[in-house]
Amino acid sequence: MDRRRRAVESAAPAAVMVLLLLSIAPAGGARRDWGFRSPSSSVGFTEPNTKPDVKNNGQTFVFNYTLAKAIVEYASAVYMTDLTALYAWTCSRCNDLTRGFEVTCIIVDVQNCLQAFVGVDHKLNAIIVAIRGTQENSIQNWIKDMIWKQVKLNYPNVPNAKVHTGFYSSYNNTLLRPAITNAVRKARKLHGARDIIVTGHSMGGAIASFCALDLAIRFGSNNVHLMTFGQPRVGNAAFASYFAKYVPNTIRMTHERDIVPHLPPYFFFLPRLTYRHFPREVWEHEVDGNTTFQVCDGSGEDPNCCRSVFVLFWSASDHLTYMGVKIEADDWSTCRIVLGRSAEQLQMNLASNIVTSGRSVDVVIADYSVQVD
Ligand SMILES: *[C@@H]1O[C@H](CO)[C@@H](O)[C@H](O)[C@H]1NC(C)=O
Ligand SMILES: *[C@@H]1O[C@H](CO)[C@@H](O)[C@H](O)[C@H]1NC(C)=O
Ligand SMILES: *[C@@H]1O[C@H](CO)[C@@H](O)[C@H](O)[C@H]1NC(C)=O
Repeated sequence: MDRRRRAVESAAPAAVMVLLLLSIAPAGGARRDWGFRSPSSSVGFTEPNTKPDVKNNGQTFVFNYTLAKAIVEYASAVYMTDLTALYAWTCSRCNDLTRGFEVTCIIVDVQNCLQAFVGVDHKLNAIIVAIRGTQENSIQNWIKDMIWKQVKLNYPNVPNAKVHTGFYSSYNNTLLRPAITNAVRKARKLHGARDIIVTGHSMGGAIASFCALDLAIRFGSNNVHLMTFGQPRVGNAAFASYFAKYVPNTIRMTHERDIVPHLPPYFFFLPRLTYRHFPREVWEHEVDGNTTFQVCDGSGEDPNCCRSVFVLFWSASDHLTYMGVKIEADDWSTCRIVLGRSAEQLQMNLASNIVTSGRSVDVVIADYSVQVD
């Protein structure tokens, strides 16, 4: 477990500038309505004009389209491989609703092809954590060996909770856990105790779930919000109910016939033994050519949401677009390129770019960490 870790901090003046700017920005703010509202608002709503329908089906839960759109843009941006454009927030996906985002930390685990960033969205008044998973073709690998490979969690009061070994160790046994926790703690110190929004797509969504649980235990359930896109199941029923209790502000977006949320399988006739999703699913679904966002029931496995799609119609292409936003890597070969160039070189280049740019961004890169699955 010889893990080499390097952290580079940019010039102090940049940090001082940030501090000065922040002292005039409002701290704290109203609690984000994610959100579970009073039953009186159970009819749901449709935001005006061009916004798609939100079908609430009598749920006491309101889906905020604008907020979700901003978050999917973060989940898409974390796939970008040009780290310089990422920390400067000038990448081709770093615009629209996320304009003005301030990256405070970029985390890259070369060995496991994992990437994450932490930063502050001043418009949402929130700390954003976005996590990217490994390559899409590893989906086949998950299917191969994931079905019964579960491991116990070492959190208190969850004797029966089991989670997927590969997904969990991608968070727990790599650079991600210490680096993200540290970056969030630092951002809260610098920018005030704002809401924390954790997001990710696909396997990044699975990892984001564990991250959100971890942050909720550390910083309080009320302060942590999770929104994932097309994530696979990550644990058993005991885990799902534990999760629902600790991370109640969770939205698990699914899209039409996306295959990944159906994996690993859930067998309704073996409810205690198989994997099970936690709530709350919101299903992006075409109805007569109109995109609707169907708010699903609190069970995590609503039979009328994406589970209503017959197995033969499951699709890989619906996995790659959410809310009209393309959400896949711009270049999957980059993991190898980075390896070839050596992480040390990458780190040096980035560090000098960051110093030149006068920004205050931490870069944490591991070129050797524990190999997960
Ligand atoms: C949805 O979220 C946006 C961004 O946080 C916020 O400005 C807006 O007021 C929210 N809308 C509703 C109906 O809560
Ligand atoms: C999670 O990480 C901790 C601390 O590094 C370690 O003790 C524990 O065994 C890990 N859990 C799993 C399931 O790998
Ligand atoms: C689809 O949208 C059109 C135009 O807004 C509307 O007239 C129609 O009723 C919608 N269909 C459904 C099934 O909601």
